[in-house]
Amino acid sequence: MKIGIPLETRPGETRVASTPDVVKKLIGKGFDILVESGAGTRAGYPDAEYEQAGARLTDRAGAYDVDLLLKVRRPDESDVAQMRSGGLFIGLLESCGEDALVASMLAKNIRVLGMERMPRTSRAQSMDALSSQSNIAGYRATLEAAARYGRFLPMMMTSAGSAKPARVVVLGAGVAGLQAIATARRLGADVHAYDVRPETREQILSLGAKPIDLDLGESGAGEGGYAKELSDEAKARQQAALSDELAKAHVIITTALIPCRPAPVLVTEAVVARMRPGSVIVDLAAANGGNCPLTVADEIVERHGVTIVGLTNFPALVPADASAFYARNLMNLIEIMVELGESGPQLKNLDEDDITAAMLARASV
Ligand SMILES: NC(=O)c1ccc[n+]([C@@H]2O[C@H](COP(=O)([O-])OP(=O)(O)OC[C@H]3O[C@@H](n4cnc5c(N)ncnc54)[C@H](O)[C@@H]3O)[C@@H](O)[C@H]2O)c1
Repeated sequence: MKIGIPLETRPGETRVASTPDVVKKLIGKGFDILVESGAGTRAGYPDAEYEQAGARLTDRAGAYDVDLLLKVRRPDESDVAQMRSGGLFIGLLESCGEDALVASMLAKNIRVLGMERMPRTSRAQSMDALSSQSNIAGYRATLEAAARYGRFLPMMMTSAGSAKPARVVVLGAGVAGLQAIATARRLGADVHAYDVRPETREQILSLGAKPIDLDLGESGAGEGGYAKELSDEAKARQQAALSDELAKAHVIITTALIPCRPAPVLVTEAVVARMRPGSVIVDLAAANGGNCPLTVADEIVERHGVTIVGLTNFPALVPADASAFYARNLMNLIEIMVELGESGPQLKNLDEDDITAAMLARASV
């Protein structure tokens, strides 16, 4: 079975879907791996390392003419034109609901496994790319905030004077939020955090941060570890109750989101105007509209003296580790998808496993 690893062409994308280490393991299982020349260079994995691992280097067309195409980012129409009919695509689809591009792959008899449809179950944890990449985003977002804040994050006592620790507020204590809390704590900040799901309180405390408790009159706990959308009244209560906590913050890292819903507004313009000049907001929900209405996706702007970072691809700023985690997620997924026989790996029925069945894109009827 041929696996293709193309160069990612989305502007700013530096990750690659597989690394030499993982390629070596897949070759050991009987796969034939074709890597587009230069695919791993920006992530720190040169062509020579893939060759040493046993892969064959190829051009773009060669990397697409395969049984199993592994990508990080959503393909575009020109990618789909190069894909082999009857093949299988695995990657992030970055879409919700109706998707013309996925429909065009299905029309070409290409099966599509969307990595964001991975169920959040314990068995699927080692294959969960949204989590592995969000973890990296939470870490890198905190470093971005620290670098852009004109003061220290930790308490500093020096012969030239002392500085108080920065007050960091993290909104949303899911995967990215918990890593942002942990990173800000490691940097010595005074960290406060809030999530609408009550079970996150213990996790916030266990990382040494202080939970912000709000009484919204309803629970935000939803299904499968996700939050549920609040009523309009509860949203208004939430904004009002958070405003004093947020206005006191020097750094806010926001990560609140319910998949396939617009990001909830948690940091209003009135709050930004009350923040101390020089403060920093990193809005990880920027791609979905942002948790702050002043956020501009893919830009860093200054409003009311506050720097607002709306970068939408933090994992691409840690490309070697982000690619390594993603590659391992894919390898763990491939392991449950194939049987290793005498004649090499054979694809199982993807509808028979709850993980692959949940990930398979279906033609809408
Ligand atoms: N900018 C980037 O580079 C980048 C990279 C990866 C992920 N992300 C984004 O980061 C965000 C978080 O990702 P994740 O994997 O941690 O998701 P997650 O589902 O694990 O966490 C989101 C958290 O937000 C909470 N939440 C939802 N609505 C809320 C509300 N109204 N108030 C408070 N909390 C609320 C949820 O309970 C959940 O704990 C998403 O928007 C994701 O798209 C951005």
